[in-house]
Amino acid sequence: MTHDFLDHGETMTTTSEATAPEIIGGGPPGWWKDAVIYQVYVRSFADGDGDGVGDLPGLSARLPYLAELGADAIWITPFYPSPMADGGYDVADYRGVDPLFGDLQDFDRMVERAHGLGLRVIIDLVPNHTSDRHRWFAEALAAGPGGPARQRYIFRPGRGAAGELPPNDWESVFGGPAWSRVTEADGTPGEWYLHLFAPEQPDLNWRDPEVRGVFAGTLRFWLDRGVDGFRIDVAHGMFKQEDLPDVGRTGQAGLLTTDRLPYWDQDEVHDVYREWRRILDSYPGERIAVAEAWVPNARRLARYLRPDELHQAFNFDFLSAGWSAGEFRTVIEDSIAATGDAAPSWVLSNHDVVRHPTRYGGGGRGLRRARAATLAMLALPGSAYLYQGEELGLEEVADLPEEVLQDPIWERSGRTERGRDGCRVPLPWSGGRPPFGFGPGEAWLPAPAHWRALTAEAQAADPSSTLRLYSDALRLRREIGGGTGLTWLAAPPSVLAFAGENGLACTVNFSGEPAEVALPGELVLASGAVEVRDSHAVLAPETAAWWRL
Ligand code: GLC
Repeated sequence: MTHDFLDHGETMTTTSEATAPEIIGGGPPGWWKDAVIYQVYVRSFADGDGDGVGDLPGLSARLPYLAELGADAIWITPFYPSPMADGGYDVADYRGVDPLFGDLQDFDRMVERAHGLGLRVIIDLVPNHTSDRHRWFAEALAAGPGGPARQRYIFRPGRGAAGELPPNDWESVFGGPAWSRVTEADGTPGEWYLHLFAPEQPDLNWRDPEVRGVFAGTLRFWLDRGVDGFRIDVAHGMFKQEDLPDVGRTGQAGLLTTDRLPYWDQDEVHDVYREWRRILDSYPGERIAVAEAWVPNARRLARYLRPDELHQAFNFDFLSAGWSAGEFRTVIEDSIAATGDAAPSWVLSNHDVVRHPTRYGGGGRGLRRARAATLAMLALPGSAYLYQGEELGLEEVADLPEEVLQDPIWERSGRTERGRDGCRVPLPWSGGRPPFGFGPGEAWLPAPAHWRALTAEAQAADPSSTLRLYSDALRLRREIGGGTGLTWLAAPPSVLAFAGENGLACTVNFSGEPAEVALPGELVLASGAVEVRDSHAVLAPETAAWWRL
């Protein structure tokens, strides 16, 4: 197999481009059920125009890398016009492209090129809140208290004698109160509006029929342009309990909080998803939606996956599991049991969480564990979401200088929490100096010097690299075919061992000591050293292996 990871640009014609099945609106039924979906955090993927920020032309040029890696689809984070108060999750216009990232033509070209390479394209929809620069919010401010344009958001009078206190005690996910007070047109202090995230992200009122209607139109707008689906941001947040009750305590919601709160996981949201499913199903070629929903347990999550609702939901329980065979096993069992007829999905990293090699302890040990966890994930039945850079084994960059930090969490927390920039450092592609081929200009966040050894270029040339482990795993996974059922195999307590109906078995040694397992079959891939003896095999510490039965 060739490893043309770095070929890109217009002159390129890779084997994958020539032979990959072009997507023409058909494809196998339920393509998403065992798909590997690669998350592109667009600001940090590849910079085509040299302004230091990743963009759509940069992404287009690098798509062959993703086809070569073996991804089935990409999910692109928001590229819409935005003041970037939250990295683009503050959308000022849902049907355009921010000049920072290109224009609609660049978008169309990117989709066409992706489809030509056999890659489906999922885009990020942000329905819980708009930007405060959205036309609707300007109209709401101008309308004054009681004005119909305020109905699209959640405005309330304050409490206290002069309305000087917020309407309730809800807290913003990013820190501080979830309410901000506006100044009315006549200059007097006025009503308060709800923002579960930054003040620049006012929450929409999903009980307003116009809001609902316009979003349905936005779905169609992008489906008509050929997108294969949507990732739904804060899918559990759109409806708030109507009477807006106090929670009664502080320290309520972090980004990853799954507690029951009056602003998360309200039943009314499911009606919207039923409507969206009907829209998706009215297009050819199995368009899908995946929910970002931080909910208390796998059972609540399964409600988003009922047959007439969404296709998938991120399985954050898997991402949250500690490094132990027991925890992994419990999460895997619960997830499979709860998803029922929908296929389970698995994820270890994304743009909101600390990269998994760092979560698992960092350094050599963190990387060893991360590589093993990845092989476990990719052997499980269902689909897997990869986050850009995990295929390079990148760690969280924990020591970014304070003056470059952009995540609103940094300021909102009174500079006590650094936020998520550490997992958003632009990708190292090639060369020996920052920004390592990310683009012609200085990147918006600096890459550490030691990433020179981790560039895609350096790793493509090294058969023992993490990049090659990922591409080998994805190639084998495609060859063997996605599994459905799963059987646990007998193994010592610190070893997770399972086999799928597709004939692929996986053994993961979670301990810091070598572990012996009965030989499950023929060794096809391993994340570290594996010694095969007559009837058994010895897995090095924190190592996973794949076996063909
Ligand atoms: C989601 C996104 C996150 C963003 C938040 C508010 O959780 O993944 O990046 O900050 O929504 O839109």
